[in-house]
Amino acid sequence: DTHDPTSLRTPIVAVLGHVDHGKTSLLDKIRGSAVIEGEAGAITQHIGATAVPLDIISTIAGDLVDPDDFDLPGLLFIDTPGHHSFTTLRSRGGALADIAILVVDVNDGFQPQTLEALDILKRSQTPFIVAANKIDTVPGWSVNEDTPINDTYESQSDRVRQRLDEKLYEIIGNLSDEGFSADLYWRVQNFQRNVGVVPVSAMTGEGVPDLLTVMMGLSQRYMKEEMEIDVSGPGVGTVLEVKEEKGFGKTVDIVLYDGTIREDDTIVVGGQNDPIVTEVRALLQPRPLAEIRTESRFENVDEVGAAAGIKVAAPELGDAMAGAPVRVVRDRDLEDVIEEVQAE
Ligand code: GTP
Ligand code: MG
Repeated sequence: DTHDPTSLRTPIVAVLGHVDHGKTSLLDKIRGSAVIEGEAGAITQHIGATAVPLDIISTIAGDLVDPDDFDLPGLLFIDTPGHHSFTTLRSRGGALADIAILVVDVNDGFQPQTLEALDILKRSQTPFIVAANKIDTVPGWSVNEDTPINDTYESQSDRVRQRLDEKLYEIIGNLSDEGFSADLYWRVQNFQRNVGVVPVSAMTGEGVPDLLTVMMGLSQRYMKEEMEIDVSGPGVGTVLEVKEEKGFGKTVDIVLYDGTIREDDTIVVGGQNDPIVTEVRALLQPRPLAEIRTESRFENVDEVGAAAGIKVAAPELGDAMAGAPVRVVRDRDLEDVIEEVQAE
């Protein structure tokens, strides 16, 4: 392959689903860290972002993924809250996504925010797969930590397999009621036309190798041409949170979804009143696998390319707003960029 992986845009994967169905736990499993433990009442209340490099994905996926088959640099996972009061944050997360994972608790099945998430994906025409989570809670389940679904499924008793099948077919039926043709992922040929359902446990890691393999396959196959657009142009992003950072004053955590942002770039950020025009003082990047919401040891970098979660330190950010657009001016006309930010 002729592609330089560093010049390809990292696909953005939004994780959506009903409250407590296991979105953060699933990302914790992939990160190998426990963000959920630091959450108030174990409820996610902000959008998060975590960069997972290709080598980690292929380590988790094991034999299912050959890193030589992929030239994307990895995946940027966006965690969203499932609690009903955070509709705006779910739409924002959905709007950022190139592809998505809809997490559904196999026992709880479809719930109000599952349907809401489906609507968001439908409207934005975002390709997605369903993670049928918590398979370890099927009565009688015997755990095979971190194994692909086929291996653990084969080792279960007939009765347990039958119980799981029933739950999975219920989910497939619910998807069909919503107008999606769905099936177990290993039966899906065309992931653009059919929704693949991947049975997983965020707790035991069972099925997680499959989930990552399917996500990489989906992004590689359907996203690559889009990923190559504009990777070196002036950056475009969305503010996740406005935060006080020791030594930097007010900063913004952003998801950069297009182009690049550099130290000393002039940027325009949507504000509570007028757009804010300011200059980047520092770009603070979370370490790979670190959740930007909880990271405490950022690395100071000169430049970042999409897609990435990045903390931007700049003067005058006091009025910046979560959800507002961020645009790098670079060699463009400042007035044009201000108008674009106002129009968003
Ligand atoms: P919100 O962000 O508030 O919408 O919730 P969430 O979807 O991020 O769910 P979270 O990861 O916080 O998990 C909710 C509860 O389910 C926690 O107590 C987890 O430990 C538990 N849980 C998540 N995944 C699994 C799983 O695969 N198996 C079992 N047994 N429990 C799980
Ligand atoms: Mg959560």
